[in-house]
Amino acid sequence: TIKRVSTRDLRARKGGVPIVCLTAYTAPMAQFLDPHVDLLLVGDSLGMVVYGMDTTLAVTVDMMINHGKAVVRGSQHACVVVDMPFASYQESREQAFRNAARIMAETGCAAVKLEGGTELADTIHFLTERGIPVMGHIGLKPQSVHAAGGFRAHGRDAAEAARVMADAKAVAEAGCFNIVLEGTVEGLSREITAAVEVPIIGIGASPACDGQVLVTEDVLGLFSAFKPKFVKRYADLGSQISTVAAQYAEEVRARTFPADEHCFGIPAKPRVLEV
Ligand code: KIV
Ligand code: NA
Repeated sequence: TIKRVSTRDLRARKGGVPIVCLTAYTAPMAQFLDPHVDLLLVGDSLGMVVYGMDTTLAVTVDMMINHGKAVVRGSQHACVVVDMPFASYQESREQAFRNAARIMAETGCAAVKLEGGTELADTIHFLTERGIPVMGHIGLKPQSVHAAGGFRAHGRDAAEAARVMADAKAVAEAGCFNIVLEGTVEGLSREITAAVEVPIIGIGASPACDGQVLVTEDVLGLFSAFKPKFVKRYADLGSQISTVAAQYAEEVRARTFPADEHCFGIPAKPRVLEV
């Protein structure tokens, strides 16, 4: 068996070759991505991307555990990190520990990720001191979409910029091995990356970050409810799926599928020698 990338390996990647991360929610997707990435994130974005929810708020620990198990089974190289969903860690550090420990024990993942800055530093410290590696997530925090007044870029004004910088320093100090920085203006993202010792993984942040993460379905063109500015669509698999479905439907209605070779008990036609 191949040795997986560890959180310790990822902690040591500050300023080096950028850390490559993508999301995965299923075993087959994990299998395709695993050889190419350092980190597979089982994001709570699955609420929107897989379950059709409007926000990530209704995602549960059980949902994260089921998808986490699938991604661990489908991978052997990448470090697998599972998101803690809304309301599974904010109440107290004990609640956070209990749910993080369940996620780690039941999925076999290497770490959890939770959204929060200075207000969650004590909780992050509590977990990291007790054997649970934590990935931070600051800037745009989708679980706080209502409090923030929508999905919008962070750090445009000085007060907010100072807050995101303070959040980065606080969660780094609390022991995060990597920190996701989402939806934050480029200049500030660059400053945060330079100011903090822990590798910063950008999404809508800066090319200067120590790594990048995107939602795989966004990259593949499999999620079309909306497209954030920071997404680059490398493929349009959604329209390929639609083409395939249309062709299958046509062949079923015309009885051209299934053909003889898809049926049992029909002898293969004798081969004719080509002249
Ligand atoms: O849920 C998710 O997919 C995430 C990444 C986009 C960072 O948190
Ligand atoms: Na998330």
